[in-house]
Amino acid sequence: MAVSGKNTLNFVRHNYGVLQNISSRASSWWSGVEMGPPDAILGVTEAFKRDTNPKKMNLGVGAYRDDSGKPFVLPSVRKAEELIVSQKLDKEYLPISGNADFCKRAVALALGEDSPALKEGLNATVQGISGTGALRIGSAFLSNFFPGPKAVWLPKPTWGNHVPIFKHVNMEVKQYRYYDPKTCGFDFTGALEDISNIPEGSLIMLHACAHNPTGVDPKPEQWDEMSKLVLKKKLLPFFDMAYQGFASGDVARDAYAVRKFLADGHKICLSQSFSKNMGLYGERAGAFSIICNDKDEAARVMSQVKILIRPMYSNPPLHGSRIVATILSNPELHSIWLEDVKGMANRIISMRQQLKDNLAKEGSVRDWSHVTDQIGMFCFTGMTPDQVEKLTKEYSVYLTKDGRISVAGVASSNVAYLAHAMHQVTK
Ligand SMILES: Cc1ncc(COP(=O)(O)O)c(C=O)c1O
Repeated sequence: MAVSGKNTLNFVRHNYGVLQNISSRASSWWSGVEMGPPDAILGVTEAFKRDTNPKKMNLGVGAYRDDSGKPFVLPSVRKAEELIVSQKLDKEYLPISGNADFCKRAVALALGEDSPALKEGLNATVQGISGTGALRIGSAFLSNFFPGPKAVWLPKPTWGNHVPIFKHVNMEVKQYRYYDPKTCGFDFTGALEDISNIPEGSLIMLHACAHNPTGVDPKPEQWDEMSKLVLKKKLLPFFDMAYQGFASGDVARDAYAVRKFLADGHKICLSQSFSKNMGLYGERAGAFSIICNDKDEAARVMSQVKILIRPMYSNPPLHGSRIVATILSNPELHSIWLEDVKGMANRIISMRQQLKDNLAKEGSVRDWSHVTDQIGMFCFTGMTPDQVEKLTKEYSVYLTKDGRISVAGVASSNVAYLAHAMHQVTK
């Protein structure tokens, strides 16, 4: 089409107007979006990075460090990776439900190789994008299919992400007493009382071991009582198992609650993470299982879980699941891994003891017995928000406001400094 001089001018004007319109509309589309608060834990890391004090410590993040403060890749993981690379495997998509061998071995690690539920094929297990992804799948399934009240009962306090995960699927979030600030221990009486008041047929979330953020776990006989009560109230227990092996160093011991509930006749939901116990944080390897009444039910549940996963992320990542499956299926690697887990748990246990001893050496008269009574990666120190602020401002020790420290981030070289700082702000 031939364009005259006048037309050219009109054409330019018109298109300039359209462009202006687009650009002004584009800049206003998100003008109503408010700045959100930074993530409580990642915000701590950001502040830590900016600090120039050579003595600074980051005890906010829940990732294991070796005794020189460095990230740790487990020897069993290194060996499994060498084996996987040598096999020159392809990079095809996994099925929606993930790596079948991984799923089979993951759930067997939690329930035990001899679990009757597994022998009878009662489990619907899928691979998740680590523990968070497993919880996310679980919450979506429960929101759609749980026949009881659309609410979840969480321990108070609980891992910060539990709340938004369930809110995201429009489930109400309620809490039962768990931690007793007076003893820095488990509020057994309060928990039993609150659980006995939960409406029958509700959903209850339990941390299988190494409760985050408190490090406070029920004793086996307390789990036994809780199992009886949960059964009596006909509640559905959803176990979040993010630290199997990391609490005591023994994977079977840390699975006590899950196995006991199953032996008592509960049908459970279970999320698992291999972030901590295999150090696979960034590989995102986890699993979600529902233990059903019979094989037919398990097949129906599985079909619906897959329908939920497909539009979420289609199918999960490959590499981490291969590492886990290789370690759990190879007897030699499996026994190296058990030693690796024990080594990490023992280093944490030893840091707890050293922290307590050093606090005593500093002359602290406070009762710090909870530092060694609590278990797993975290210690709920009992420090107040003011004391935490002072610890950060004056000693460059970074932690979350609730007074939680990651003991996995403490090393022989700085445990005395930490004790000194904690004593100074709490005396
Ligand atoms: C209680 C609990 N559940 C689940 C997770 C999920 O972790 P990830 O998604 O890294 O496996 C964590 C991690 O900190 C946790 O503490």
